Amino acid sequence: MTLATLLSRLDAKAHAAADWGAVAAYIPQLACVNPAQFAISVALADGSLVSAGQAKTRFSIQSVSKVFTLACVLSRIGESIWARVGREPSGDRFDSILLLEQEQGRPRNPFINAGALVTTDELLAGRAPREALSEVLEFLRVASGDDDIHIDSAVAASEQATGYRNIALANYLKSYDNLINEPDLVLGTYFHQCAIEMTTEQLALAGRGIAGLPGAPLLLSARKRRRLAALMMTCGHYDGSGDFAFRTGLPGKSGVGGGILVAVPGVASVAVWSPGLNAWGNSKVGTEAIETLAHKTGWSVFG
Ligand code: DON
Repeated sequence: MTLATLLSRLDAKAHAAADWGAVAAYIPQLACVNPAQFAISVALADGSLVSAGQAKTRFSIQSVSKVFTLACVLSRIGESIWARVGREPSGDRFDSILLLEQEQGRPRNPFINAGALVTTDELLAGRAPREALSEVLEFLRVASGDDDIHIDSAVAASEQATGYRNIALANYLKSYDNLINEPDLVLGTYFHQCAIEMTTEQLALAGRGIAGLPGAPLLLSARKRRRLAALMMTCGHYDGSGDFAFRTGLPGKSGVGGGILVAVPGVASVAVWSPGLNAWGNSKVGTEAIETLAHKTGWSVFG
């Protein structure tokens, strides 16, 4: 079966789903998205891009942006970030405050909300707020080879108006001296990063560097992309990271907009989108599609 046929079948299977999961209701602007949507795109090592479903529909990348914020921090600032944020799975919800008190304000990893507030703060240090935001957008544009990537300001405003948990996390981090900037500035920048909208085509292309595909713009050293992928594998799906690794054998990063970016090192960069979420806040049908894709292709980092 060709990859195009396989992806079309995944699209058909998605549309036959009895349960699409539930959209993220805590962000009003995401609560009104129709859950019954699906797209998948695969960028391959030979430079081709194969898609099925609504691969040209833009969606809110939300926490998938955390990979690119960290990539920017690692590229420009380097390893000093690890003094401020850990590299262990948290085993808790993405927006949990629980471990922050136990661990004196040092978030477990850069992919939970508290950890991403710290990486965003690092990106902001010593620069104008717009520069930090532009850096992540510019990274995505160069990585995907597509300038048509923007922020949905309605989604950013919607989250800013209701982001009480993130506001609590930022203030808590500040109380432990683990924010350099004022919480409001970090939160505003973070909400805007989360509100970047992309298609699965753009996201699959943007992930080529992390997957180490030949021909991808050289934005990350081999060591950095391997480390990003290792963190995606261990922490990319929050308290559902073990389940995602078990089911797919691949590193992935999810967002509450229903997107997932998956790296198949040296082989492919995959982006899937379906807005309905499972109990962990990860795309339900998207996860199922990646599981089938991995099974049918034999793609796995475990050989
Ligand atoms: O901060 C938040 O809650 C959202 N902007 C992003 C959370 C998210 O995407 C978690 N993903 N599964």
